[in-house]
Amino acid sequence: MNERDFIREALSNLAVFVREKYASRRNVCISEKREANDILTEVDLAVQEKLVERIKSAFPGDFIAAEEEGFSRFPEDPNVRAWVIDPIDGTQNFVRGYFPSFGISLALAEGGVPIAGGVIVPMTGDLFFGQRGHGSFRNDSRLEVSSISTVGLVRAEIDFGGPWDRPGTLAAFDTVMRNVGQIRCHCAAVIGICSVATGDMDAYFHVGLNPWDYAAAQVILEEAGGKVTRLDGSPAYLFDGGHGLLATNGRVHDDLIRIIHPQA
Ligand code: IPD
Ligand code: CA
Ligand code: CA
Repeated sequence: MNERDFIREALSNLAVFVREKYASRRNVCISEKREANDILTEVDLAVQEKLVERIKSAFPGDFIAAEEEGFSRFPEDPNVRAWVIDPIDGTQNFVRGYFPSFGISLALAEGGVPIAGGVIVPMTGDLFFGQRGHGSFRNDSRLEVSSISTVGLVRAEIDFGGPWDRPGTLAAFDTVMRNVGQIRCHCAAVIGICSVATGDMDAYFHVGLNPWDYAAAQVILEEAGGKVTRLDGSPAYLFDGGHGLLATNGRVHDDLIRIIHPQA
């Protein structure tokens, strides 16, 4: 099976499992990671384990980076083929309920750049998929970013993250909040970035993401005509340890960077 079919099939199978678990989420086992707002569920672990098993058997030898236990790591050799997994992006939304804002994310990267990626939204069944040079799709419909080109009309997602991200978020995006037209927050990076790919949103901002939060959504957005960089406009290489991310429809990208860094 090729990588495209592998990603689509693996995500579709797991969406059913996660949807069932959401229905009985009050019985799901939850543990704390760094602090009470940083949580992990048995469903995150089960989804990761299922994806890791499938990748190992279909593509033995490929590197695997994933958010949870044992795989939260970056490859030493940036040129390896690496699978990047977020078993549930938006775990807080899954646990407390925030329909339908959580997704399963799986990307394949080469040279630290995602070349194919899928995000499935279990509660709607929507499958987003992008492949470098081949466009991106929501189910069978081709995705295209919005045509908004004026900052004052931009509908922006400022992803507030956890409490640990808030001081940085307030400091970095004060000028953005004062200048854009509308502000939203799904608090699930994959949904926020895919919403830029669909044209529902025009820009997505975050001060502290890890590669699993955006690898698949990055290629989906870029193939829809959007742009993804660090907050200073430098390339978003997945494994560089950099954190801030700006994902836009491309048309407002440079203007937003100037607004984030008015002194530059
Ligand atoms: C989180 C979500 C959220 C973002 C956080 C991430 P998780 O991922 O993407 O939108 O603000 O920084 O950690 O923990 O739900 O997989
Ligand atoms: Ca996660
Ligand atoms: Ca995540």
